[in-house]
Amino acid sequence: MLMMFPTVYAPLLIFLSVLRAVGAETTDPLYLNFHNLYLDESLSLTPQNMTCHKNSSSTDISNGPNLLLPFNRTRIPSSSGSIYIQNYIKKYYKTNLTSPWNVEIDSFVEKNHTFTNLAFTLGGAASQYIVLAAHYDSKIEPEGFIGGIDSATPCAILMYISKFMDHFYLNSSSNIDANLANKDIGLKIVFFDGEEALKQWGPNDSIYGSKHLAKRWINNGVMEKVSLFVLLDLLGSADKSIIPSYFSSTNSNYRLLNDIENEFNSQFKSYNNTKYFNPQELRFQNFNRIVIEDDHIPFVENDVNVLHLIPVPFPKVWHTIDDNFHNLDQDNIKKWAIILTKFTLESLMGNPDQTYNSAFSSSNNTSE
Ligand SMILES: *[C@@H]1O[C@H](CO)[C@@H](O)[C@H](O)[C@H]1NC(C)=O
Ligand SMILES: *[C@@H]1O[C@H](CO)[C@@H](O)[C@H](O)[C@H]1NC(C)=O
Ligand SMILES: *[C@@H]1O[C@H](CO)[C@@H](O)[C@H](O)[C@H]1NC(C)=O
Ligand SMILES: *[C@@H]1O[C@H](CO)[C@@H](O)[C@H](O)[C@H]1NC(C)=O
Ligand SMILES: *[C@@H]1O[C@H](CO)[C@@H](O)[C@H](O)[C@H]1NC(C)=O
Ligand SMILES: *[C@@H]1O[C@H](CO)[C@@H](O)[C@H](O)[C@H]1NC(C)=O
Ligand SMILES: *[C@@H]1O[C@H](CO)[C@@H](O)[C@H](O)[C@H]1NC(C)=O
Ligand SMILES: *[C@@H]1O[C@H](CO)[C@@H](O)[C@H](O)[C@H]1NC(C)=O
Ligand SMILES: *[C@@H]1O[C@H](CO)[C@@H](O)[C@H](O)[C@H]1NC(C)=O
Repeated sequence: MLMMFPTVYAPLLIFLSVLRAVGAETTDPLYLNFHNLYLDESLSLTPQNMTCHKNSSSTDISNGPNLLLPFNRTRIPSSSGSIYIQNYIKKYYKTNLTSPWNVEIDSFVEKNHTFTNLAFTLGGAASQYIVLAAHYDSKIEPEGFIGGIDSATPCAILMYISKFMDHFYLNSSSNIDANLANKDIGLKIVFFDGEEALKQWGPNDSIYGSKHLAKRWINNGVMEKVSLFVLLDLLGSADKSIIPSYFSSTNSNYRLLNDIENEFNSQFKSYNNTKYFNPQELRFQNFNRIVIEDDHIPFVENDVNVLHLIPVPFPKVWHTIDDNFHNLDQDNIKKWAIILTKFTLESLMGNPDQTYNSAFSSSNNTSE
């Protein structure tokens, strides 16, 4: 079935083979096949592609439907669109994924709105966690605002990464989980509500969800176990804005992503005109404070190591009605899915290349 898309998938296989030399875990043929089987159906912008793998005979991996298109609706806190997405996400982790994901629902009322954060954990008894997060709510104004990059695409990518981890976690047939199972580190995937302001952005009108979950995690002891917090925002457009390294505490994680992107670009020549990462891009660290306000604030304030994946300048469609699915870019969505999946895997397993600090050994603290 790989032959179905020779131009797209042949280089992908080469890419994954090259990665095999970097991380021993990738000798698993399931890993090699994973993106081939799932990418198009999971993150395609064209629904008709959902059926393209129906006749797969080479594998027992069942086909799942599109993860991205359900987000193509308004998702204002407390609205029916928001409830729809909450149910969609919860059902996915409870019934579509098969590994033991722990479900945490953090619901609260503020300013006459019900906000609901959703957090899913793999490795419930671990002593430390890597957290990947994005917000699923959409802006109230302008009316009809969808938020394709803000943050429908980041949410769908988190679900895609979860599918990958789900498939390999605690799966005795896979080398990957044999290694993972020996690590005392877990993964938390978080979907924040209420990132956007209800009226006008300010410290008392924004990031309702992340502030609430942070308090909860401080009280129940989870916060001190977070070794790395990765926030995805404004990803999925064709804009070529760079993502600087905002925090010195995560320069090593940033460099890992940069190297993964280089590997990716060298295998997919057509992507080589887009480079998101540049380890020299440290100018934001000179401000010694948070320059871009987002859901990471309560975590930075609690001395968590934060990797903020948000491009500057912001993509052109930012906070306009044009931030819709029409202005998403299929190639960049796929690229983000692949490099962030690889990044998550390497961060959880520990990178064999010692030039990177692993995500779990933090040498430098943020000093905001
Ligand atoms: C997103 O929804 C709009 C409005 O319902 C629709 O016109 C558009 O085709 C959808 N986009 C995709 C990629 O499905
Ligand atoms: C989806 O299907 C359409 C029509 O068959 C095709 O033109 C397009 O290239 C496919 N997209 C992907 C990402 O495979
Ligand atoms: C899919 O499989 C069915 C039954 O095995 C077969 O009849 C059909 O022709 C196949 N379709 C394609 C597009 O290969
Ligand atoms: C989840 O599984 C159900 C039942 O098989 C299926 O109908 C649904 O489309 C799946 N959803 C996702 C997002 O995978
Ligand atoms: C609170 O929300 C309810 C239902 O959405 C609405 O009927 C009520 O007027 C709102 N109250 C305030 C003070 O905004
Ligand atoms: C583990 O791998 C097998 C194939 O060897 C696959 O059928 C199964 O779905 C995988 N387990 C999970 C939890 O995905
Ligand atoms: C935010 O709320 C706090 C507590 O109610 C208040 O002290 C502060 O002045 C408010 N800040 C702004 C910018 O409104
Ligand atoms: C940690 O801080 C030291 C001194 O400020 C700096 O030289 C080093 O590059 C930093 N390491 C990382 C991983 O950011
Ligand atoms: C990308 O293209 C440039 C110019 O053609 C080349 O110098 C560079 O090595 C390429 N980068 C990768 C990662 O292949």
